Amino acid sequence: MPVVAIDGPTGSGKGTVSRGLARRLGWNLLDSGALYRLVALAAELQAHPEPRELDVVAASGEQVTAGLVAMALIECGAPARSYAGWQVAVLTGAAKDALSSKLCACFDEDVAPDPDFLNNPAALTGVFAERARSVGAATLALKGIDRGDPVARHSHVRDNLRFYGAPVEMIFHLPGDAVPGSFLAMGCFLQNVMLGLVACGLGSCPQYSVAGYADVIRVYLGLGEEQIVVCGLAVGYVDPAAVINSLVPERAPIDDYVRWLD
Ligand SMILES: Cc1cc2nc3c(=O)[nH]c(=O)nc-3n(C[C@H](O)[C@H](O)[C@H](O)COP(=O)(O)O)c2cc1C
Repeated sequence: MPVVAIDGPTGSGKGTVSRGLARRLGWNLLDSGALYRLVALAAELQAHPEPRELDVVAASGEQVTAGLVAMALIECGAPARSYAGWQVAVLTGAAKDALSSKLCACFDEDVAPDPDFLNNPAALTGVFAERARSVGAATLALKGIDRGDPVARHSHVRDNLRFYGAPVEMIFHLPGDAVPGSFLAMGCFLQNVMLGLVACGLGSCPQYSVAGYADVIRVYLGLGEEQIVVCGLAVGYVDPAAVINSLVPERAPIDDYVRWLD
């Protein structure tokens, strides 16, 4: 669908001209003014804002624009929906292998993971620390890895960045203006995808580990600097012969985490 968009200084008449032109041609009008006003506001606050912060501001302008474009399309009779905050990239074949190689290279070069957010408190305590330790110990035991064997443990952690050899890796990400509620919505989305995969006879493993190299992922996927890499999801058919798939973590009794109030 053809669109008219005219840029220019405030008061130059671009709004009047572009509206008239759009009417005469029967084209749609894109008002990019909202985005420019946001960037001008940023410039008023700081002469040289950090590119990351400018991206966040520009991204919120893009979201407003996307919402308005969706409304315009619906008005024209075309079904449309502005993009949801959460998005996912699905990688297979050479695209998946190339990302895995880049992540493994970082790991092999001892690049310190630098995730965009913490998925747990910096130090787990009490029962949470105990549970994490017991799942970790059970995993190593099943894989026949001795805790004191640094080479075997290194290869075990590296397996995360090989996506465990799965044929599909998904990368879940959020816009830079995400708030805690956005992560809640993303978690529901992730769980729905995982349950949907089970319904289709597939298995999956959520992967916070890959988000440790968020910068590499952003560049590789061509995501804006403001995007938040939330997690990966390795997807494939469950291999019943793989001993790790026999791991059944112990479940806490329901009364440990549910209070019944009548
Ligand atoms: C959001 C999320 C991210 C996870 N990321 C990883 C990961 O990167 N590597 C890993 O080995 N396990 C990861 N796990 C798995 C947990 O470490 C744990 O083994 C698993 O959740 C235990 O199974 P359960 O959830 O059925 O109790 C993740 C789990 C969740 C829910």
